[in-house]
Amino acid sequence: MDSLALILAAGKGTRLQLDGPKVMQLLLDRPLLWYVFRSLRPVFGDNIFCVVGYGREEVETYFTDFYNFVYQQEQRGTGHAVQCAWEQIESSGAEFVVVCNGDTPLVPSSYFQDLLQEVQKNNLDVAFLSIELPDPGNYGRVIRDKSGNVCRIVEAKDLNEGVESKEVNAGVYCFRTVFFKKYLFELKDSNRQQEYYITDLIELAINNGLKVRAINKGYAEELLGINTVKELVRQEELVRKQIVDRFLTQGVLIRFPQSVAIGPEVEIEPGVKIQGPTKIYGQSSLYRGAEIGSYTYISDAQIWGRVHEFSHIVGSVIKTGAQVGPYARLRPGTVIEHKARVGNFVEVKKTVLGKNSKANHLTYLGDSEIGEGVNIGAGTITCNYDGKKKYKTTIEDMAFIGSNTALVAPVSIGKRALIGAGSTITKDVPEGHLAIARAKQFVTKRGLKK
Ligand code: UD1
Ligand code: CA
Repeated sequence: MDSLALILAAGKGTRLQLDGPKVMQLLLDRPLLWYVFRSLRPVFGDNIFCVVGYGREEVETYFTDFYNFVYQQEQRGTGHAVQCAWEQIESSGAEFVVVCNGDTPLVPSSYFQDLLQEVQKNNLDVAFLSIELPDPGNYGRVIRDKSGNVCRIVEAKDLNEGVESKEVNAGVYCFRTVFFKKYLFELKDSNRQQEYYITDLIELAINNGLKVRAINKGYAEELLGINTVKELVRQEELVRKQIVDRFLTQGVLIRFPQSVAIGPEVEIEPGVKIQGPTKIYGQSSLYRGAEIGSYTYISDAQIWGRVHEFSHIVGSVIKTGAQVGPYARLRPGTVIEHKARVGNFVEVKKTVLGKNSKANHLTYLGDSEIGEGVNIGAGTITCNYDGKKKYKTTIEDMAFIGSNTALVAPVSIGKRALIGAGSTITKDVPEGHLAIARAKQFVTKRGLKK
């Protein structure tokens, strides 16, 4: 192994004001740290380590397939975080270590690659990325001498009068492992925050006659970190725009693109129509022919058909020619087959609605298997839960369920069976039979007087 990446993700993120560890806050629907892994993977493969501390359980639970967590019990600074990982770094045998902040999610893979190459090509000991900001705010300032060589990084909190720079540290570094071996534990916490700063390693390297370089990326928004909610929504907007623009370029029709959010793992074929404000998240795929109405929320769905306005679709499949909504809710495990129809105020969970079948109004279908050409009348409810267990409802091809029917599961309705409106069905109905289970109507002259 010649290089490895180390992510610093142990901080609480106090300035963010939100509950939970900072790196688990979401951009679109993925945690900040997910994005950092995404851009490191193509360059470092499995040679990635991640320092966690505050809220580590939450981080480790989300990234269950990742094993290289390093624990920093007390958050005593970014330099201390690296020290916590020293054992792993040394035993990996890597010659170079790229370190990055877990709160800077949008660094492109190529930046890591280029940084590594720069160090190798120029035989540097340390290099890091810098950016130019009109307002350098809380970033560490990059201080250069008269000939333009880097001297040190000064943290915003330790700035003294007369020292200022618009070039700041982006928090992406590459170190030679032998440099760490010699100097990592020489860091001091003699600063206003009494922390061990990774940034002090720059001055330490220079004072020891080593080759250090800052690679200035100019005004690179993708290198901005997230410390406040304002910075969080700013970076979210940046990645949202990137994704929407990419799909527009590929020929996906996205109307009112400024109000459409598409998650980083969503796939959409050219020719798909997205009609307005929408969120499409998770591992969703929209195929040619799909059309998504405004104000819908879609997550982990496979869609060939049409979703009308104000629908909520999670973990479901909508096949070609099928239509869903407006105001429909599809929950995980739902399959709406070819040309089937789910209308307004219908909730469907863990149910297959067969080809050409219809459930158009005010219905709940849960744990059901519904055949082809079935008509589910308005207000039909599958009573799938007895307070302890869930039971299955089966409705076979061409059956007709009258309005306001309660189907008390487990129950089966045979092919071409007909259920009278207002029935409470507790027993199976065989193929071709009619079932009515409701009180008989009773009419007398005892109405109100004029
Ligand atoms: C840091 C840099 C600053 C740079 C900026 C870029 C230091 C001292 N300062 O400042 O020069 O301009 O990033 O965004 O490094 N962390 C740990 N353990 C700790 C402390 C922090 O793992 O003990 C992690 C945090 O979770 C975070 C990252 O390190 O992901 C950076 O820490 P943060 O406190 O955000 O540093 P900044 O003040 O932004
Ligand atoms: Ca930060």
